[in-house]
Amino acid sequence: MIMPQVLSLLILAISASAQIDYAQYVNPFIGSEGPISGQAFGGGDIFVGGAVPFGVVKLGMDSHEANLSVATLNGGYTPQGNVTAFSMLHESGTGGCPKYGVIPQMPLTTVDSPVNILDNTTYWQSRVGNDTATVGYFRTELANGVTTELSASRHAGILQHSFPAGEKHVLVDISHYLPQGNGGYCDQYFIGGEIDLQPGGSVYSGYGTYVGGWNEGEDVKPY
Ligand SMILES: *[C@@H]1O[C@H](CO)[C@@H](O)[C@H](O)[C@H]1NC(C)=O
Ligand SMILES: *[C@@H]1O[C@H](CO)[C@@H](O)[C@H](O)[C@H]1NC(C)=O
Ligand SMILES: *[C@@H]1O[C@H](CO)[C@@H](O)[C@H](O)[C@H]1NC(C)=O
Ligand SMILES: *[C@@H]1O[C@H](CO)[C@@H](O)[C@H](O)[C@H]1NC(C)=O
Repeated sequence: MIMPQVLSLLILAISASAQIDYAQYVNPFIGSEGPISGQAFGGGDIFVGGAVPFGVVKLGMDSHEANLSVATLNGGYTPQGNVTAFSMLHESGTGGCPKYGVIPQMPLTTVDSPVNILDNTTYWQSRVGNDTATVGYFRTELANGVTTELSASRHAGILQHSFPAGEKHVLVDISHYLPQGNGGYCDQYFIGGEIDLQPGGSVYSGYGTYVGGWNEGEDVKPY
């Protein structure tokens, strides 16, 4: 027969071991780089960013790699590509064509020429130093001096942009999505959308409709 005191000790021991934070040992970058150093090609086609397990929101960067014959843009994240936005929805590990990369924010320190907000190649940013990623947290520093930190709950993305002194802009281009570098049958398309900016500019709401992508799916309309 086990005495009650022994039993409570056993329970204590079990709950203490259950509290080890195994998440600290997770390296979210594993699979983000393939055999060509600095390129995502041939890696795991994975997403890296702010997310909780099985969350709807996978908040991460959308980036572009120069050599499209060896570019892998599916998960949004690439080790060295230029950042076009941080967006709410991504797929991890699918391979093939990109899907999502929608509802974006891009922090900018200028919108003057040569920046043209209708041309993502005029405002995309390379990165400074190494990105940081732990479970549920991602941090990167853009060449324009903005540090962006990302996290998420199941249904919400949480972004923090830290700007250097000077102008501060956040571009929300509802027509943005992750492109299939070479075009083709499973590219995505933006069909339409709407955005309402409240007075003062601190709150916006809206939706976008997108079709195609990896699953050649019907249109989706995230609000
Ligand atoms: C990143 O942007 C810079 C400036 O536009 C450009 O020179 C460079 O080739 C781009 N790199 C990639 C990987 O697209
Ligand atoms: C792109 O990558 C392919 C495959 O590695 C290589 O053969 C080609 O030279 C690269 N092109 C450029 C412009 O670097
Ligand atoms: C980035 O990471 C690489 C590889 O771990 C390391 O060699 C390099 O020193 C790091 N760079 C910075 C700026 O921390
Ligand atoms: C830039 O935007 C254009 C027009 O929407 C799009 O076709 C292209 O794929 C985008 N490029 C990147 C790298 O996101």
